[in-house]
Order: sequence, then C-alpha cells, then structure tokens
Amino acid sequence: MDQNSLKQLVADAALKYVPEGEIIGVGTGSTANFFIDGLAGMRDRIKGAVASSEASAARLLAHGIPLFDLNDVESLPVYVDGADEVDAGFAMIKGGGAALTREKIVAAVARKFVCIADGSKKVAVLGKFPLPVEVIPLARAQVSRALAALGGRPVWREGVLTDNGNIILDVHDLAIAEPVRLEAEINQIVGVVTNGLFARRPADILLLGTAGGVLTFERN
Ligand code: A5P
Repeated sequence: MDQNSLKQLVADAALKYVPEGEIIGVGTGSTANFFIDGLAGMRDRIKGAVASSEASAARLLAHGIPLFDLNDVESLPVYVDGADEVDAGFAMIKGGGAALTREKIVAAVARKFVCIADGSKKVAVLGKFPLPVEVIPLARAQVSRALAALGGRPVWREGVLTDNGNIILDVHDLAIAEPVRLEAEINQIVGVVTNGLFARRPADILLLGTAGGVLTFERN
C-alpha cells in the first residue's frame, strides 16, 4: 500500500470520532485533506468546522462545510490533524506545511486531539524531521543564532510565508530527548511565534496507517 492509501485509510477511520451536530477542529496537510474530503460525506450531520489554515478553510468551503471563527467557539469536542513525526508519548513535530501556529491554537481549544498519520511518522525520538519554528521576519537572524546555541542547525524556508505573515526556520540535527522542555525553551526566544513541537499538548488518540490496517492507540 502506498503512503497516500495509508493516509486515506486513517483519515476515513477518524470520521468515527466526529460527533454529530457539533463544530469540530480541522487540521492542515495532505492527510487532513483526505479527512476533509471524507467529512464532506457527513456535512449535513455536523454544525461546521474551525480550520487551522487558509488552505483547509478553502477546502472545507468548497465542500459546503460551514466555517466558524475560533473566537466564536468556546470549546471543540475534537481536533483532527496529521503530524510529521509522533513519538511513544504522542508528542509530535508538526509544521511541515507551515500551519503550526494556527494548528496549535485550534488544538488548544479541543477536548480531544486525534492524530492521523501513516506508519512512517512513528519514531522513537523526535527530531529527524527538521523542527519548524515560526518567526517574526525582523527576528530571523537573531532567532537563528539562539537556535544554533541550543544545538540545532536552523535553515530559513525561503519563499514561504505563513498565514500569519511570518517566516519559518526549519531546525535540523536535533535529537529531542525532552520535547516538553525544548518546546517551552524555544518559545521563550524573543521573536519566536511558536514552534512545531506539540508536547505540552500531545495527541490523545493516534490512528496509524499500516499495511495491516489502522492501529489505534489511546494516551493514558
Ligand atoms: C501542517 O503545517 C503540518 O503540521 C501537517 O499536519 C503535517 O506536516 C503533516 O502533513 P501531511 O499530512 O501532509 O504529512
């Protein structure tokens, strides 16, 4: 089974976590896109969605799924999104699609985070996938120096601006033994908007697509 088929498989499996009559949080990326397409089949049974990016908002709207502003929603029963890496404690690296900040904000409002990923995303230690960091453009050089001092090798994702008008630094060569600590430490650097470690608020449910089918894991 190819990677797209595995993404499709987990995206379909996530539909059963969507409660009827509610507004749900929707992530960004190729796996989330499969989920959005599946959600279209049940659009009359949900109230609508909060999107974590302009791209996902456009896809939801194209399917006729009503969009809500997060400011008008107090809490979401569920947030469904992909990941670039996920470890045994359900901490994730996200932001390969540059949507990490809005993803983290929407996830923070959700009571349940369902992570949908193909099996290749499961790792023992986070960090092989370069860690995306959203940075205020003016602070690019200063933040790069601070990230290098932490032992990483930041690379500017040139030509990319986030939905919030900021830049992305991808930090290579990190072996992230303590994701909760590193997430907080990077967020303390002046000029950083947020980083792609989702460790303080990890996933609650992990649906992993494998050749043998969907494996479901729940965080204790
Ligand atoms: C978007 O910024 C990311 O956080 C995505 O959720 C992540 O990159 C996973 O993307 P794919 O589903 O395309 O692999």
